[in-house]
Amino acid sequence: MIKAVTGTKDILPQEISRWKYLEDLVRQIFSSFNYKEIRTPVFEETILFARGIGEETDIVGKEMYTFNDKSNTSLTLKPEMTASVVRAFIEHSLGKQQPLNKFYYISPMFRQERPQAGRQRQFHQFGCEALGSTSPLLDAEIIIAAYEILNRLNLKDLKVKINSLGVPESREAYKNILKRHLEVKKHLLSEDSRKRFDKNILRIFDSKVESDQEIIDNAPKLIDYIDEESRKDFEIVKELLSKNNIPFEVDAKLVRGLDYYTKTTFEIISGKVGSQSALCGGGRYDLLIEQLGGAPTPGVGFAAGIERILLACENEKTLLLPEERIDLYIVRMDSELTQKTFELASYFRKESLKVEIDYLDRSVKAQMREANKLNAQFVLFVGGEEYKSNKFNLKFMKTGEQKDYPVDNAGEIKSFILQNISI
Ligand code: HAM
Repeated sequence: MIKAVTGTKDILPQEISRWKYLEDLVRQIFSSFNYKEIRTPVFEETILFARGIGEETDIVGKEMYTFNDKSNTSLTLKPEMTASVVRAFIEHSLGKQQPLNKFYYISPMFRQERPQAGRQRQFHQFGCEALGSTSPLLDAEIIIAAYEILNRLNLKDLKVKINSLGVPESREAYKNILKRHLEVKKHLLSEDSRKRFDKNILRIFDSKVESDQEIIDNAPKLIDYIDEESRKDFEIVKELLSKNNIPFEVDAKLVRGLDYYTKTTFEIISGKVGSQSALCGGGRYDLLIEQLGGAPTPGVGFAAGIERILLACENEKTLLLPEERIDLYIVRMDSELTQKTFELASYFRKESLKVEIDYLDRSVKAQMREANKLNAQFVLFVGGEEYKSNKFNLKFMKTGEQKDYPVDNAGEIKSFILQNISI
């Protein structure tokens, strides 16, 4: 049997209503903040992500699906959207059309990580990117939007963590301070952290190894060394979050796994999804656009993992959607009325009703069973004694009430259904 590739999952019809509910909510919230949808290709030239996300990151170093196409161009399935959105922004000169561009997206992403609950190789993100302003109002806005989406899903066990990484100059100065502090303890660090010490020292803060924790906890914190402007902006972000009743905590260890961040970074964590607890993450990236060849333009954004959010909803039993139903099931009582039934179904479907008929030559009893299984709100009986006297019989399933209608007046049936249907 050919199976789905490790780390990928089918989303089956019975799960789709939850996905659609979340996607509709995302669209509704982003459009209330005036973000416009953007869609970019699934693959890009590899260099975009290598340059954008950073050569030394886990994503670029270990996790990308990279391949050469037949013309020997190195391509990569997108592991995240920020670099792609920035590429599109530069390519189409969108900054020239208006000074501030606010985008949102819902899209599959690809990272070759070790699969586990809440971690896949093809997963889905929704997110947003606001390009063109350094205002900390936007940092607060995206955190509020992210929190609002999770809140509307009734997720309870949420933690918003924020930090500021400052500008590269203050960060470089801090890295030297950190290096000096950790130098003497380097031999006590885990192997992974020792590697990070040489390559990307800030990532040591991401270590989950217990023996690293104590060393990290006692190390100087970046937030105490950031530049004045970053500090001021961070204060404004915190004030705005408080005023908007967003419960948050400053986490000086939140460094994020992508290299493009400056100033504010944040994550929202759920206590209900196990080890893969980050539902979303993001922050400011004021230098990325020029790094990718555009005119200097500040940016800020976040992305959230749809699978993880749905997992949290499942674990907290928050997303209880009504059972799916159809409007009308047409029961064919005599086999010679098959075409008539088909015609009627076409008529009601054109009136935008959700209609089903039998295609398996089932008995009347089996058709009724099917109507019940599909939660049909109405059943129309075509055939039998009524049909001999030129009538159809319509049953309103909620009340059990039944009524005859002349066969040449399907319009009357439609009106009755439309008046009584619950959406
Ligand atoms: P990220 O933290 O790498 O950030 O990913 C954002 C979210 O995507 C994570 O919090 C998680 O929920 C989800 N996610 C990541 N990897 C996986 C996976 N393998 N399986 C399932 N879910 C996953 C970014 O991608 C940045 N582009 C966010 C951003 C936008 N920063 C600024 N703008």
